[in-house]
Amino acid sequence: MQIMKTLVSVFLMATLLWACSPGLNPENTAKVEEAFAKYEDSPGKTVFRDKCAKCHGYRLPETRLAEKWPKTIDKMAPKAKLTDDQKAAVLAFVTKYAKAS
Ligand code: HEC
Repeated sequence: MQIMKTLVSVFLMATLLWACSPGLNPENTAKVEEAFAKYEDSPGKTVFRDKCAKCHGYRLPETRLAEKWPKTIDKMAPKAKLTDDQKAAVLAFVTKYAKAS
């Protein structure tokens, strides 16, 4: 059973590290593909993928609460130079997949 314990702690540590990370590194294409495969294609997904990892890694929708996203997107939209349509699309995308509570 020792092996199980080891596996469980490795998994927990990986989860913790991931949760505290500055976001998913866009250069890690395998990880990026895997992360984005979870989401249905939408205009917001495309905008997010194109525009939201230029300064920091991808801060994926499910790493933030739905109620926190509108404020964050308000701050990030000008940084990412989004049009109003792009901003609305990204907000719909991130809140759809956001952490519930
Ligand atoms: C021009 C650079 C830039 C772009 C483009 C950008 N961000 Fe940011 N973002 C920042 C900076 C600077 C911070 C604050 C420092 C930090 O947390 O790294 C930040 C912080 C964040 C945070 C953490 C703050 C919080 O309230 O939780 C999230 C989430 C985030 N950005 C999401 C996004 C999304 C989504 C996009 C695409 C619409 C985006 N960012 C595009 C620069 C940028």
